[in-house]
Amino acid sequence: MTDILSMRAYAKINLGLEVISRRDDGFHELVTVLQTVSLFDEIAVAPADALTLRCDRKGMTGERNLVWRAADLLQKESGTAQGAVIDLIKTIPIVAGLGGGSSDAAATLRSLNALWKLDLDTPQLAELASQLGSDVPFFLQGGTQLGTGRGELLEPLPTPDGQWLVIVSPDIRVPGKTPALYGRLGPDDCTDGSTTAKLTEALRSGEAIPEECMVNAFERVADDAFPGLDRHRAVMLKAGAEQVHLSGSGPSLFSLVRSESAGVALRRRLGGLGFHGIVVQTVTSEEQN
Ligand code: C5P
Repeated sequence: MTDILSMRAYAKINLGLEVISRRDDGFHELVTVLQTVSLFDEIAVAPADALTLRCDRKGMTGERNLVWRAADLLQKESGTAQGAVIDLIKTIPIVAGLGGGSSDAAATLRSLNALWKLDLDTPQLAELASQLGSDVPFFLQGGTQLGTGRGELLEPLPTPDGQWLVIVSPDIRVPGKTPALYGRLGPDDCTDGSTTAKLTEALRSGEAIPEECMVNAFERVADDAFPGLDRHRAVMLKAGAEQVHLSGSGPSLFSLVRSESAGVALRRRLGGLGFHGIVVQTVTSEEQN
């Protein structure tokens, strides 16, 4: 029997995202609350002599794919002579502010660490993850975490367990999306992190998520950057969403709902208006691992 290891790579939303300042190294200093949700890609790895990446979607198997880069980095850094066949099944919308590529990369590091019996611990994996992207370290543990620095300095928070959400992920492509969105931010979009501190405090006290504290620095620039985003937002409100939030640098939007049935009802009304809603629930770090 061949050893095949498979793992879910969950999507994330940002419950809050404040940009504090632009740094000299070209990154931005953030305060963000990241949350994994029950929408996932799947990664399966099997032993092989060389590295091969297969994917159920076209155009995803090149050497620029973060899964490939994660495998290559781990292989080089560990000095292992082992290879692997990596199968990636994509469900998370691509370049959508849901962290799909970053989550796939983190799942690749964890899967190959196990397959190749490298025994790297989480801080060692986190060091490699941060070389792959600012969001990648978060996905090693997932759940709910406060991210600072460029998003790679993490502190676990209690998960608002069982919170249901509806995601709408508009298919609006912007070349070089993440740097382009950061590039649109001006000094007025920078805040001091105090709103996210209130959000964090509420989560630590086990209170309901204070929606008024769910701010996102990209809100001001997103409608200009993503043509048609405002229409998606308007349709979500028309379908009965109470508040609509942007995830990460967009363009995915999400709304908190009271229950699964409220989520399903919202999805149905969105469908009636010709829009696709995805009903998800928060995932804790324990559920992921
Ligand atoms: O870290 P990651 O590869 O995801 O970042 C992609 C780009 O997004 C960076 O090159 C930078 O332009 C921008 N970025 C930023 N500040 C962050 C994270 C990303 O300016 N905290």
